[in-house]
Amino acid sequence: MKTPERIQPNRQVVAFVLMGFLSQAHLEPIRYSVMEETESGSFIAHLAKDLGLGIGELATRSARVVSDDDKQRLQLDHQTGDLLLREKLDREELCGPVEPCILHFQVLLETPVQFFEGELSIEDTNDHSPVFPTGEILLKILENSQPGTLFPLKLARDLDVGSNGLQKYTISPNSHFHVLTRNHSEGKKYPDLVQDKALDREEQPEFTLTLIALDGGSPPRSGTTTVRILIMDVNDNAPEFVHTPYEVQVLENSPLESSVLSVSARDIDSGNFGRVSYGFFQASDEIKQTFSINEVTGEIRLTMKLDFEHIKSYHIEVEAIDGGGLSGKGTVVIHVVDVNDNAPELTLSSLTNSIPENAPETVVSIFRIRDRDSGDNGKMICSIPDNLPFLLKPTFKNFYTLVTESPLDRESQAEYNITITVTDLGTPRLKTQHNITVTVSDVNDNAPAFSQTTYTLRVRENNSPALHIGSVSATDSDAGANAQVTYSLLPPQ
Ligand SMILES: *[C@@H]1O[C@H](CO)[C@@H](O)[C@H](O)[C@H]1NC(C)=O
Ligand SMILES: *[C@@H]1O[C@H](CO)[C@@H](O)[C@H](O)[C@H]1NC(C)=O
Ligand SMILES: *[C@@H]1O[C@H](CO)[C@@H](O)[C@H](O)[C@H]1NC(C)=O
Repeated sequence: MKTPERIQPNRQVVAFVLMGFLSQAHLEPIRYSVMEETESGSFIAHLAKDLGLGIGELATRSARVVSDDDKQRLQLDHQTGDLLLREKLDREELCGPVEPCILHFQVLLETPVQFFEGELSIEDTNDHSPVFPTGEILLKILENSQPGTLFPLKLARDLDVGSNGLQKYTISPNSHFHVLTRNHSEGKKYPDLVQDKALDREEQPEFTLTLIALDGGSPPRSGTTTVRILIMDVNDNAPEFVHTPYEVQVLENSPLESSVLSVSARDIDSGNFGRVSYGFFQASDEIKQTFSINEVTGEIRLTMKLDFEHIKSYHIEVEAIDGGGLSGKGTVVIHVVDVNDNAPELTLSSLTNSIPENAPETVVSIFRIRDRDSGDNGKMICSIPDNLPFLLKPTFKNFYTLVTESPLDRESQAEYNITITVTDLGTPRLKTQHNITVTVSDVNDNAPAFSQTTYTLRVRENNSPALHIGSVSATDSDAGANAQVTYSLLPPQ
């Protein structure tokens, strides 16, 4: 890029040399201006007229235009005496950011030698748009950043100068930011992003905005870039159990290692701040022995057999901790569901093995039944076979009394085998049987009876004493001593 600084010394040398030898140089330069990008061959000025020269004089005195940098940018028309543009000029190429942009030239005539100085000011046209160095500007902002904070953005460049240069920045309308144009020395303008509102990554993690740089041309030109703002997480959220309190029912016969339930906590922070690990919170030994919790998945498993009859429900506090150390608590209630895993039990309190016959209602046994299950699983039915002369009487709570239904007769049945059956109403039904053997003890309730009501015995006369005449026989259906029979003759009537 050529700059006037580079043209300048050259001009001074030329001016000095010419002025040293030729005293006729004009002291005041003639000044013209032309818009940049004007087509070549365009008219700039009536040079001959302005210098007070006749039209023919230019040709006869071999007038020519010399510019400082030896580039033939200007041209003198000898016929018309007009100064013309020889080539299209680009102000930005000639002068860059320097204003004003002056092209120095000299008009040289011979016989006699005459020298004029001229300045051509090249006026800027708005032929460049502001341009950002990158298509996207990435900005990371912590979510706890306060409103009012400034974030410098990359500036755009506009090769044009003055009012055609970059004037201000705007940003696409949005709820959280606006942009400020900062005036720097050297006339550069910087965009500053200003935060207007508190940020919340969990609400909006990212903004994509369009930054616009505007110049002051007429019409103005603009350049855009995308500003992508990533809101960086701060561990501002503790994990939260969404479904707490959890409530679950577990069959008491569930196998070891079976899954009870999975708890889950939400942490809307990202990365490590949102990663949650699970554990029991202040759990009793009982709970720690019975359950385990997976640190990663939150799954609670059984590590010990449950026993509804022992513990019917567990209240467990669970905790979720995120990578930043924030924690949340939840409750898990585990109800143990009874399974009919206990058969009824029967405990004899008293038993009389031997019952005298003919006795009125007599107590044979007092016993108690129980079932460790609950609900229907613990409800019981107690029975004995129908065909026995015994009765079961519910007594007090779960106590039963087994009594004789009617007086017994040892002579018809001396022994009874009684099976007491206790069944619960659970599914499946469980039962317990208990066998009692009752003997009927004898009472002397039967007289001896002769085998015949009359015996006819025949005896020969003249017999000798102690002669065996015959026998009588009596039996007694009682037992033991009650059945021992002695015989005697009654005195004759
Ligand atoms: C920057 O300069 C422009 C004029 O060039 C002016 O309108 C604007 O208010 C200035 N901005 C600041 C922040 O000073
Ligand atoms: C009672 O049971 C015993 C032994 O099981 C048996 O020997 C006896 O004959 C049974 N008595 C009756 C009356 O069934
Ligand atoms: C009770 O007796 C019955 C038959 O009378 C028998 O089948 C059962 O096995 C006995 N139960 C016990 C516990 O002895």
